[in-house]
Amino acid sequence: MKHRSLEIIRDEHSSLAAMLQSMRLMVDRGPQDDPRNFFDVLRAMLFYIDEFPERLHHPKETELLFPRVAAAAPEVGMAVARLDHDHEYTEKAVRDIQHLLLGWELLGESRRQRFIDAFHRYVNLYLEHMRLEEQEVLPAAEKHLTEADWRELDAEFEKNCDPLTGKYKPDPVYEKLFTRIVRDAPAPIGLGGS
Ligand SMILES: [Fe+2]
Ligand SMILES: [Fe+2]
Repeated sequence: MKHRSLEIIRDEHSSLAAMLQSMRLMVDRGPQDDPRNFFDVLRAMLFYIDEFPERLHHPKETELLFPRVAAAAPEVGMAVARLDHDHEYTEKAVRDIQHLLLGWELLGESRRQRFIDAFHRYVNLYLEHMRLEEQEVLPAAEKHLTEADWRELDAEFEKNCDPLTGKYKPDPVYEKLFTRIVRDAPAPIGLGGS
């Protein structure tokens, strides 16, 4: 039996991983001869992470999915505790990273390395976070949760409608932001600069 919420969680992980990889590519390449576009696009991407994964995806995992899985499958309790802790960190880290980026943009080269170190730590933790969810928590959920659990989870995750998964049209409020990211960011998330 396929559960819609699990499909949504996996789709959202793929689009977030693609976003992180595009950002990493941009950061490794640096501003080159177009610093304005470089900082604008990175800012738009970090803002997206703050608006979607941090406000919709992770809180629903922490509030609705994790407590059920931890209760039904105590063997994943440690993993769940670690993932909850990551959620607290990433929610704050995305704003710290935006601030460090601003430091680099406004104060110049002397702040570049500070941003780069924090950014790489952030991306590595995030990718490992999603791996742990997919390898330990989602399979345990699939095994142990009840039909009533799935009804509630499916209904809640269905509301996310994250346009970066490519499966939903962006809400008009977000349309410009998404067009911008998709037009200017490099692959795998966007069509800009090879
Ligand atoms: Fe998560
Ligand atoms: Fe997740």
